[in-house]
Amino acid sequence: MKKIVLTIAAAVILLSFAACKKEAPPEAGSLEELVSLMTLEEKIGQMTQAERGDIRAGDISKYALGSVLSGGGSTPAQNTPGGWYRMVNGFIVESQQSRLRIPVIYGIDAVHGHNNVLNAVIFPHNVGLGAIAAGNPEKGAQAAYTAGYITAQEMIATGIRWTFAPVLGVAEDIRWGRTYESYSENVDIVTFMGLSAVKGLQDGGAAVCIKHFIGEGQTLSGRNQGNALLDRAALERLLPPYRAAIEAGAMSLMISFSSVNGIKMHEHKELITGLLKEDLGFKGMVISDWDALRQLSGNTYKEQIANAINAGIDMVMATNGRNSWESFIRLLTELVKEGTVPMSRIDDAVLRILRFKQSAGILDSPSTGRSGEVGTVANRAQARDIAADSLVLLRNENNVIANLPSYQNILVAGRGADNIGMQCGGWTITWQGFHGRSTEGTTILKGIQEAVKGKANVTYDAEGRAEGNFDAVIVVIGEDPYAETEGDRINNIDIQKRDIDILWDVYSYECPVIVIMLSGRPMTIGDEYKNWDALIAAWLPGTEGGCIADVLFGNRDFTGRTPYTWQQSIGGEVLYPYGFGLTK
Ligand code: GLC
Repeated sequence: MKKIVLTIAAAVILLSFAACKKEAPPEAGSLEELVSLMTLEEKIGQMTQAERGDIRAGDISKYALGSVLSGGGSTPAQNTPGGWYRMVNGFIVESQQSRLRIPVIYGIDAVHGHNNVLNAVIFPHNVGLGAIAAGNPEKGAQAAYTAGYITAQEMIATGIRWTFAPVLGVAEDIRWGRTYESYSENVDIVTFMGLSAVKGLQDGGAAVCIKHFIGEGQTLSGRNQGNALLDRAALERLLPPYRAAIEAGAMSLMISFSSVNGIKMHEHKELITGLLKEDLGFKGMVISDWDALRQLSGNTYKEQIANAINAGIDMVMATNGRNSWESFIRLLTELVKEGTVPMSRIDDAVLRILRFKQSAGILDSPSTGRSGEVGTVANRAQARDIAADSLVLLRNENNVIANLPSYQNILVAGRGADNIGMQCGGWTITWQGFHGRSTEGTTILKGIQEAVKGKANVTYDAEGRAEGNFDAVIVVIGEDPYAETEGDRINNIDIQKRDIDILWDVYSYECPVIVIMLSGRPMTIGDEYKNWDALIAAWLPGTEGGCIADVLFGNRDFTGRTPYTWQQSIGGEVLYPYGFGLTK
């Protein structure tokens, strides 16, 4: 910090001599003094975050932009660690051309590994980590820490040091499309798992952005970005994850798209400035979500900007086109000049941004330097071990699981058997994720083939129509990849007809049926499960699908327990209660 401030002071002094014989400004020895050196344009530039695809060469230095981000799936032409590093470092170098040389910070959603980067290791989504914790809190906390640490290391390998993670929302309605991004319906699990993730990411060298404050998991009918009816006691109940993360050093926080009691969180001054900044004492930076200001009250973007900044938003993710961030800068400048947004609010926002950047280490060393790789063998082994611990055995009739290693002829079927993309779910390579070989990894099928090589014959037929007699059938079904609102299922989370057809095909073999479910949450399976000899909830295990074989054919017990109540239908009978799971 000292170095950059002295440099800044020197630069300002040189410029002052060059421009006129004004008295040299006081040496900026602190962040407050650095703010005092900044022009209004430079302050508002720092409050602006633009998407990488919405900027041109020269914008970062000209506008002194505070941050650039990748939206989900927004990747450089070369989606390699080197390609990422060259892009991100190029932005950082350009920020050093601005008058005060305050480094730009690059942000990304590395939420279950460095998931935009091809061939990075992908960990189980948080629902799977929560399943570990529901069975064994210490093991769960260690898994969250390890996943965070390795994710940070793989981020550093690409020159990125800020992730919009972890989610600290408590999903209480599984119809919500972001249920899998939450660890559990249990706030205690979310608290210690979020804390461990923060520590792992920070120890690995990354800055965190805890999200999305607050009430995202309590919206009516589970609607993403919907309205949550929360009295003070209900709000208090949701605060422990944020208190713990803030105490652990989290210095940036993202506001939720949702509303609380009919007021959009992004303009909720009582909860942002009152509860978060004053009551909880949060001294870090509050960032908006994706172009979220457009959803606010107010007839114009200018009014929406005033509502958000005056409510306590410090940096704005002004995305969905170049015009979004350019007009944000222009309109906020007008708002300050006309007194609608006080300069004191701007100075507070900029000080928080600089405090965040200082805590992230980028004021002292703007660039990480190119080091490390992604998707290493060691990182994959760690992810596979964690994924194995996340599996939950919900049904095991006639002890079929124990008999599996003795079978000679096994049929593997289902859409998810040979499908890395379905194993990983959303937020993988692209925002929504997609079926097929989306990135490097081990499919469930490959893991089984390797585990029984030389001991049993494995036949694979996705449709479950292979000729022959089998001792058992393993069927992998579940949810298509999705993210955010695309995942909202307001009426039911039923097994898809395509999966039901495959199941009825394999029932005709009249041998034990072991169902593996790849889903971001409990699915509403009605009575169908009564046809199954075993049911394993694999959640969204990530790239290391060999984890299934490690438990089915290895000497490994099932240690995961469901982190969500599993109902037979939405609001119906509880089939498997929260915390349920069999060992074998
Ligand atoms: C998305 C998500 C948020 C994410 C942000 C940037 O809409 O709500 O979780 O961090 O945009 O991709």
